[in-house]
Amino acid sequence: MIKNTTPKIIAPEEKQEDKALDFTLRPQKLNEFIGQNKLKENLKILIQAAKQRQEQIDHLLLYGPPGTGKTTLANIISCETNVNIRVTSGPALEKAGDLAAILTNLKDNDILFIDEIHRMNKNIEEVLYPAMEDYSLDIVLGKGPSAKTVRLDLPKFTLIGATTRIGLLSSPLRDRFGAIYHLDFYQDNELEKIVTRSAKILNIKIEELGSQEIAKRSRKTPRIANRLLKRVRDFSQVKSNGIITQEIAKQALDLLEIDSLGLDAVDRKILMTIIQKFNGGPVGIKTISQSTAEEQDTLEEVVEPFLLQLGFINRTAKGRETTNLAYQHLGLTNLKDWSGK
Ligand SMILES: Nc1ncnc2c1ncn2[C@@H]1O[C@H](COP(=O)(O)OP(=O)(O)O)[C@@H](O)[C@H]1O
Ligand SMILES: [Mg+2]
Repeated sequence: MIKNTTPKIIAPEEKQEDKALDFTLRPQKLNEFIGQNKLKENLKILIQAAKQRQEQIDHLLLYGPPGTGKTTLANIISCETNVNIRVTSGPALEKAGDLAAILTNLKDNDILFIDEIHRMNKNIEEVLYPAMEDYSLDIVLGKGPSAKTVRLDLPKFTLIGATTRIGLLSSPLRDRFGAIYHLDFYQDNELEKIVTRSAKILNIKIEELGSQEIAKRSRKTPRIANRLLKRVRDFSQVKSNGIITQEIAKQALDLLEIDSLGLDAVDRKILMTIIQKFNGGPVGIKTISQSTAEEQDTLEEVVEPFLLQLGFINRTAKGRETTNLAYQHLGLTNLKDWSGK
């Protein structure tokens, strides 16, 4: 079966074209980081306390949907504490030796950032346990009965892990983090501030109602807000005078098939499938994936969290069900519009 991929514009994961944009728009300081106020308060205390004790910061785990600021926060912490950050990711670490090489090259207080830490290989993960706990590295020399384990001291580093799927993290790994912070979806007014800030940096002329319209449709996710801003700018330049008004934003986003709440064609297809093929559910995620040809990972990581947040689906022990809110949003008020129930 040919699998569909989520349309580029709405996929919250980082795309090649985002890299430059993310880099330009990424806040460098905690006070430029919009929203997530509780998390910011906690971080300030953590940073301040470590500074007072002149110690490295506790190992931190950041989890939340793609594009909500995990990488940004790791960089801000490095900037605010004036320490180096070394960046790698779960899938990039292929052998235990890869991680050992990185660890031995760190300096005291350095930050090691491991993105997508839930995708790290189990035997590599085991190298991390003593590294996180005792700042040491066990190296096995030789093979068979004559093999010896040598313990190396490591610098006092801080591990920052990021994940979109905390449930996939093993408990021994999770337990070794001193603090675990959750990044929530953003409020519309926070996204509006993000759009306004980005427009300023990119020299884009945008009216307040234009920012609001983009914010409302950006899936409660900063990365998507920035991406939509760029698309709407293109549209306004070609179809109008380059100034983003509410009307221009609406037209541009309609053309991209992003609706008034930020749902795209895939979200609507998933909802319609649950409603029409499965009588509104409950239906398992695997079955939904098979009957829509959308990858299960994408559904679990991208589509489902957003639809749950909107209250359009419920998760029950038996599977996913659509709610009345979903029917209303899709305009299915007439019983004949959908099968069953
Ligand atoms: N709180 C925020 N305030 C302003 N911009 C943000 C915020 N969070 C994220 N961004 C923007 O969104 C982009 C994606 O964030 P990123 O940290 O890469 O997300 P994640 O690592 O969680 O996938 C950043 O480059 C930044 O421009
Ligand atoms: Mg990231």
